[in-house]
Amino acid sequence: MHRSTLAVSSGRPTGVGSPLNHPVVLASNFRGEEGAYARTHGTATWEGLEECIGALEGGQATAFASGMAAASAALFALAPKVLVLPTYSYLGVRALVTDLVEQGRIDVRPVDIGDTAAVLDAVDGADVVWVETPTNPTLDVADLDAICAAAASSGAAVVVDSTFATPICARPIEHGATIVIHSGTKFIGGHSDLMIGLAITADAVVHDRLRHARLVNGSVPGALEAFLALRGLRTLPLRMERAEANATALAERLRSHAIVQEVRYPGFAAMLAFVVAGGAEAADAVCRNVRLLVPATSLGGVETTLERRQKYAGDAHVPPGLIRMSVGIEHVDDLWADLSAALDTALDTGCGQRASST
Ligand SMILES: Cc1ncc(COP(=O)(O)O)c(C=O)c1O
Repeated sequence: MHRSTLAVSSGRPTGVGSPLNHPVVLASNFRGEEGAYARTHGTATWEGLEECIGALEGGQATAFASGMAAASAALFALAPKVLVLPTYSYLGVRALVTDLVEQGRIDVRPVDIGDTAAVLDAVDGADVVWVETPTNPTLDVADLDAICAAAASSGAAVVVDSTFATPICARPIEHGATIVIHSGTKFIGGHSDLMIGLAITADAVVHDRLRHARLVNGSVPGALEAFLALRGLRTLPLRMERAEANATALAERLRSHAIVQEVRYPGFAAMLAFVVAGGAEAADAVCRNVRLLVPATSLGGVETTLERRQKYAGDAHVPPGLIRMSVGIEHVDDLWADLSAALDTALDTGCGQRASST
């Protein structure tokens, strides 16, 4: 079945007379001799979400408290000694791995994930290759086929953080990924109203280890969050269709604006980044001057958000004028009217410069 159909039809109770949606199961404890308990046995609410995202990604899913909890569980489950890690990727995962390095539990081989030759060089002797594609915040794209093939021939597992791609734009398991993770907080939830994480695998042993990781670490999702995330998944294909069309149009319009030096848009999904001439001052002015777009750090909601990323120590490597934008489902002309006015103001007030003059 098509993804748009799976998103709507999977993860539902099927018995005659049952409700169409799994309820929000607000229970930790369950009657009976089996010792059923939410953290150890899961709940119907989690299972509905897991069935749906599993169907979309082509594997078995485990839901976690957040995207970071899913990332931690993937590392816990695979327990790598040697990890290939993108140097330029989501700062939270890099901070987690830095802690593990400092504790002497892991060795890291840093790579530019868009540089396939460099990644392939690093694979031999590694236990796990961590891929994020497209990357946060610079939108680098990895060659999943080449990386997964190299990892398979050297016996390494591959984890793909597919948060920016969503299961609508990529299915990493089909390319050979061992585990796909998502911050479901973002596009899957889609409404900036929950935190949740997901890890999906087609390997039964790895699935058991992910379940065990959740059980022993206690990184369980909330009942309402799981319900809302599944509700979000139902409309993910539709939302992505609109958001992607908006992102494509905005990327094109941004390219022709005088203040814009560079646009990074991989050509799919709804995240993009652009660099304004005039550095941090110009980019801050743009983020301050928008009225409809929301200056905010998170992403993946129905509303368009934007943020200058170099202000974070973890993203100090990106150009000072780089603005990352999560494109929502508003009318593209309203988005462009607001964004172009903010860009014009930055230019007119002298905060920004003409890109050609830098
Ligand atoms: C690519 C990526 N992976 C993982 C995470 C972590 O997700 P969460 O905030 O749900 O823990 C984020 C959060 O921004 C992210 O952008």
